[in-house]
Amino acid sequence: MNSRVAFPLIVVILAIAAVGIWIAGVGHRESSKTKTVVAMSTKSHVSSGTASVPAERPIPDGDFGRVIEQGRKIFNDPAIYAKSFVGNPLRCASCHLDEGRKAGASPMWAAYVSYPAYRSKNDQVNTFAERLQGCFRYSMNGKPPPLGDPVLVALEAYAYWLAQGMTINPKIAGRGFPSLAKPTLAPDYQRGSHVYTARCALCHGANGGGQRAANGSLAFPPLWGDQSYNWGAGMASVKNAAEFIKANMPLGLGGSLSDQDAWDVALFVDSHERPQDPRYTGSVEQTRIRFHDSAESMYGQTVNGYILGSHSTPSGGVLQRGE
Ligand code: HEC
Ligand code: HEC
Repeated sequence: MNSRVAFPLIVVILAIAAVGIWIAGVGHRESSKTKTVVAMSTKSHVSSGTASVPAERPIPDGDFGRVIEQGRKIFNDPAIYAKSFVGNPLRCASCHLDEGRKAGASPMWAAYVSYPAYRSKNDQVNTFAERLQGCFRYSMNGKPPPLGDPVLVALEAYAYWLAQGMTINPKIAGRGFPSLAKPTLAPDYQRGSHVYTARCALCHGANGGGQRAANGSLAFPPLWGDQSYNWGAGMASVKNAAEFIKANMPLGLGGSLSDQDAWDVALFVDSHERPQDPRYTGSVEQTRIRFHDSAESMYGQTVNGYILGSHSTPSGGVLQRGE
């Protein structure tokens, strides 16, 4: 076999192996529901590059431990443990990787010590619980659990526990996604579609719909369409998506895309229809002016002759359908 044929073949084999390992991992997670020791150690932190990722540590016994464990379950499987508040099959851990521990994938330990904080999105000082509500409303295309709801309390306890030993510091290393320089060329849909086909479609599907494992659990999350995050979500900003993708995708190969490829593929992903922005005013044009007036949002823009947001399903997903 000549090397021009062999190389892509090896890439495909590696990618298929990665998919297999990942699906096995999903199965493992499913089967370890009662396990209380997660990837943390008795040392409070280990250093990973510039970021301080909490090390392995057992979840404490007793009532407090049970609430933390419940928070961890919600984080990994909100469709099961917070069913009435979510409108899509995504997991918090679909974006906040490694159960909310991975530096550069908006980890919960860094978020926890960064609130209360002012957010221009709602022009208020938000508590951590209020910030959690935001991801239910937009990223999970659902309905925010009311303050004090056991779902929020459990997620708070889980993040509090991950953040144990950290000091209050909104600039803590590892928070959010690593920032990415502006691309040399304006992000481009066509180039992005080629990156998508070559580097993403195997896992996330040619139609962006994601894939389920044999046991029905979500193996690869959808990137667009009715089952994805809605137009108001952080990931619907091309900049956020480019930063997340550059640092974390393809899964396990974060950092391997060029900056330009990351911008192009982020634009491509966010140039597809997804559920409506819950703040929809009744007109795409007005909604764009009020909430999306930025080059980072494709909402209301015309792509391939189609106005994005013009045929979105209502926000709320399964909630909307009363399921
Ligand atoms: C589709 C991807 C996605 C999903 C699913 C998702 N989030 Fe987020 N989340 C984001 C993005 C994007 C941000 C903004 C990150 C940034 O700018 O640092 C964010 C921010 C956050 C923050 C604030 C982080 C910080 O440092 O200020 C918290 C807390 C949070 N999410 C919790 C959750 C929880 C809990 C769930 C599940 C109920 C969830 N998220 C589901 C994408 C997602
Ligand atoms: C080897 C399989 C694989 C490949 C290839 C891959 N991803 Fe992912 N991706 C995943 C998995 C798995 C998750 C969710 C992580 C989890 O559940 O722990 C994810 C999560 C995401 C998310 C956040 C969740 C969501 O649904 O919005 C985005 C965005 C994303 N990937 C984009 C990309 C892009 C763009 C590419 C190509 C550059 C890519 N991925 C390549 C497996 C993959």
